[in-house]
Amino acid sequence: MNAPASFARSVPAPSQPAAGHAGATAVGAQPLLETRGLTIRFGGHVAVNAVSCAFRPGELTCIVGPNGAGKTTYFNLVSGQLPPTAGQILLDGEDVTRLPVSQKTRRGIGRAFQLTSLFPQLSVLENVRLAVQARRQRGLDLFSMWTSHRDVQAQAMAILERVALAGKRQLTVASLPHGDQRKLEVGILLALQPRVFMFDEPTAGMSVDEVPVILDLIREIRQDRSKTVLLVEHKMDVVRSLADRIIVLHNGILVADGDPAEVIASPVVQQAYLGMPEEEGSHG
Ligand SMILES: Nc1ncnc2c1ncn2[C@@H]1O[C@H](COP(=O)(O)OP(=O)(O)OP(=O)(O)O)[C@@H](O)[C@H]1O
Ligand SMILES: [Mg+2]
Repeated sequence: MNAPASFARSVPAPSQPAAGHAGATAVGAQPLLETRGLTIRFGGHVAVNAVSCAFRPGELTCIVGPNGAGKTTYFNLVSGQLPPTAGQILLDGEDVTRLPVSQKTRRGIGRAFQLTSLFPQLSVLENVRLAVQARRQRGLDLFSMWTSHRDVQAQAMAILERVALAGKRQLTVASLPHGDQRKLEVGILLALQPRVFMFDEPTAGMSVDEVPVILDLIREIRQDRSKTVLLVEHKMDVVRSLADRIIVLHNGILVADGDPAEVIASPVVQQAYLGMPEEEGSHG
């Protein structure tokens, strides 16, 4: 989908806070995650351009914008897959800008849909067990020393129930269809118990009957007021049903930020998503 010519001009000023939004929901006052002037250049192209944004606990933020807007690149910067050209990333007030992916994961920045986080030749259950163990060995979890094999097994099984994969626990990951692999990635994310959950088009490529499993899980995660959820999503019905707040990226610039109803009603979103044929407005 190409951005309408008036995209950047037809929206509120960048980073304009939503009137009354923070007061309307019981979100925490201190940001859990914040980016300040976050920027990355690829040659002459600025894919993410000085994005300043704070995400509070208890909040689910949908990130929308046309193809190529910089949404995935923004996630790559926050999760550590790409080093920024400029700007800062703060987690709980601490500068984590230059930390590698492993360190960021350990500190609680969790990103779903990194196929690299799966071991394709191991079973579904073994993959989740490894994630449960990794999480227990993290930080100052003193109880990990006493963790029995049975506990890890029970936790892994509970997670597989949640992502509707218990019946496929003995299959190798490599043999799973695409939709099941995506569910497993969410399961692994749950096992790691991050503080920041990042989902990049989590239902893309899934069959219609698989989608509700993922959306219900995201809803469940959102109930936990100590977490913050960032969700990149093109399907506006999903955005509408889940978002506490919407931010809009266009050409790498944050061009709108606020209350879902206001942002959805804004000319930028109307034009980019609702005024266009369905297949262009909601890919994936
Ligand atoms: N590693 C890279 N090297 C060069 N250019 C890149 C790289 N990664 C992303 N880009 C460019 O940055 C821009 C933003 O891409 P990005 O994938 O973040 O968009 P997006 O908003 O996620 O789009 P979509 O909705 O299609 O997933 C695009 O122009 C893309 O070609
Ligand atoms: Mg993308």
